[in-house]
Amino acid sequence: MTDRPETTCIPRHVAVIMDGNGRWAKQRGRPRIFGHRAGAESLRAALRSCRDHGVEFLTVYAFSTENWVRPADEVSGLMSLLKTFLKKDEHELHENQVRLRVTGRIQDLPKVVRAELERVRAATKNYEKGHLILALSYGGRTEIADAVRAIACKVKAGELDPEKIDEAEISRHLYLPDVPDPDLMIRTSGELRLSNFLLWELSYAEFYFTDTLWPDFREPHFAEALAEYSRRQRRFGAPS
Ligand code: FPP
Repeated sequence: MTDRPETTCIPRHVAVIMDGNGRWAKQRGRPRIFGHRAGAESLRAALRSCRDHGVEFLTVYAFSTENWVRPADEVSGLMSLLKTFLKKDEHELHENQVRLRVTGRIQDLPKVVRAELERVRAATKNYEKGHLILALSYGGRTEIADAVRAIACKVKAGELDPEKIDEAEISRHLYLPDVPDPDLMIRTSGELRLSNFLLWELSYAEFYFTDTLWPDFREPHFAEALAEYSRRQRRFGAPS
C-alpha cells in the first residue's frame, strides 16, 4: 500500500471526464493522438490511485456519442489506443482483481474493438476488488432515451403498470443498474461542463474541476481531488 493523504472520507465511485488531451498535444506541437496516448498513461495512474486509496468504482469518459464526428484518423487512433490498452493492461486488471465494464452503445464500436472488450470483460467478470467502467460511445441523453424506450416496451406488452414508474424503475433500466451512482465527478482542463456525461447518475455527485490537462493529471492530482471531496459536506437535499 502507498501512503494515503489526510483523506478521511473516500468516495466509493469516481467518474472522470478526461479532458485536455488535444490541447496538451498542441502545446507540444504534436498531433492530437499524442495527447490521447499520454492520456492513457493518466488513466493507468488513476487506476493505481483508486487501488491505493480504496476507491471501488472508476468510470472514465473515453469516447462520447458526439466524438464520432472527430476526424477519421483521430477516431481510428482512439480505437487502436483502446485495443492496445486492453491488450497491454489486461494483466493489471487480473493482478488487482479489477472487473472491466462498459457503459454506452458498444454496438456502435468497430467489431475488433468490441471483440477485445468482450474478451476482457468476460475474463474479469468475477472480480470484485475494483471496477473500471469505460464509457464508450456514451451519451447521457441517449442512455435515458434507451431506458425510456425499454420501459415503454414493457408497458406496451402489459408487463409494467405506468403508475409504478418511479426513479428506481428508471434506474433499473439504465446501462449498468447495479453500479452505485458516482460520489465524485472530476473534470480536467478547466472546462466547466457536464458534456452529456452520466446525466441521471451524477444528480448528487460532488463536482471537482481543475485546470490541469488530463495527460498531466497523475497520482498527486487524484489525491488532491480526494482530499477536496473529503472536505465537502454532502447533504442530499437535507438541511445543514
Ligand atoms: C478529451 O480530450 C478526451 C477524449 C475525447 C478521449 C479520452 C481518451 C483517452 C484519455 C485515451 C485513453 C482511453 C482509453 C480507454 C485507452 P480532447 O481531445 O477533447 O482535448 P481538447 O479539449 O484539449 O481538444
